[in-house]
Amino acid sequence: MLKTLTPEIRTVHTVEALRRIVRGWKRDGLTVGLVPTMGALHDGHLSLVRAALRTMDRVIVSIFVNPTQFDNPADLGTYPRTEDEDARLLAEAGTHLLYAPTVDEMYPPGFATRISAGGVAEGLCGAHRPGHFDGVATVVCKLFLQSQADAAFFGEKDFQQVHVVRRMATDLDIPIRVVACPTRREADGLAMSSRNRRLTGAGDRDRAGVLPAALTDAARQIAAGRPVGTVLAATRARLLQAGFADIEYLELRRDADLAPLSEQGRQPARLLAAGRVGAVRLIDNVPVGGLDDRPAQD
Ligand code: PAF
Repeated sequence: MLKTLTPEIRTVHTVEALRRIVRGWKRDGLTVGLVPTMGALHDGHLSLVRAALRTMDRVIVSIFVNPTQFDNPADLGTYPRTEDEDARLLAEAGTHLLYAPTVDEMYPPGFATRISAGGVAEGLCGAHRPGHFDGVATVVCKLFLQSQADAAFFGEKDFQQVHVVRRMATDLDIPIRVVACPTRREADGLAMSSRNRRLTGAGDRDRAGVLPAALTDAARQIAAGRPVGTVLAATRARLLQAGFADIEYLELRRDADLAPLSEQGRQPARLLAAGRVGAVRLIDNVPVGGLDDRPAQD
């Protein structure tokens, strides 16, 4: 009888084991890419792995549900965990190494140092999730230093996070290239996210799909010269009308540094939003002025 063999993935749980393997790769002159994740993997994560595999000799994926970036303990408790399925997907994608540290390995007893993320971390998600970006910057800094990777790959769905991570690496002189990859979307435009699997209330999944549609329409109107305030007010009303429980923010920011904009002018801009469908918090963003014209990568 034929048996289908599930590919296995090489996995380490300690900094020491990770460093030993990376040292060997570097001795052989190989470049190393890192894809930091919190697991519950979907095709958005796998597109980052594919992007890393295209340019790096070896690719590490880290899975660590980082407690210090959750401002809400209930959110941490219900964060989806699908370790076996994640390992299978990563092996199939051709990932070279899975790094899955425990909380004690990442934050040993006595751990007392935390990065304070300012500037681009302020406002937007930073205003609604106190301490969130401090936790992200701290754990990503540790992952960069632990892995000694040459490049790290992040999804643009978390657009502010990409800015925060870039700023942190620049400010702390960490020699790593931060690569931002386009958001992967479902057929109706909903940005792929581990949280989407919690959209289980009646009509919630359809309701969530209104967010990318509303953002895309608003971005077109702003690019066509309609007043930003008018467009944002109408978009907010559309989302509430569609059944969003609340809109945390809906803002136009400069693409390069997230400076608030009251009009687009000629500069590349982003429209960013966060809102809740039932108990699920969704975030998304779209470019304004010349919709994303980068070629689709996969
Ligand atoms: O985007 C995420 O999944 C997390 O914020 C990250 C970058 C893995 C840090 O925990």
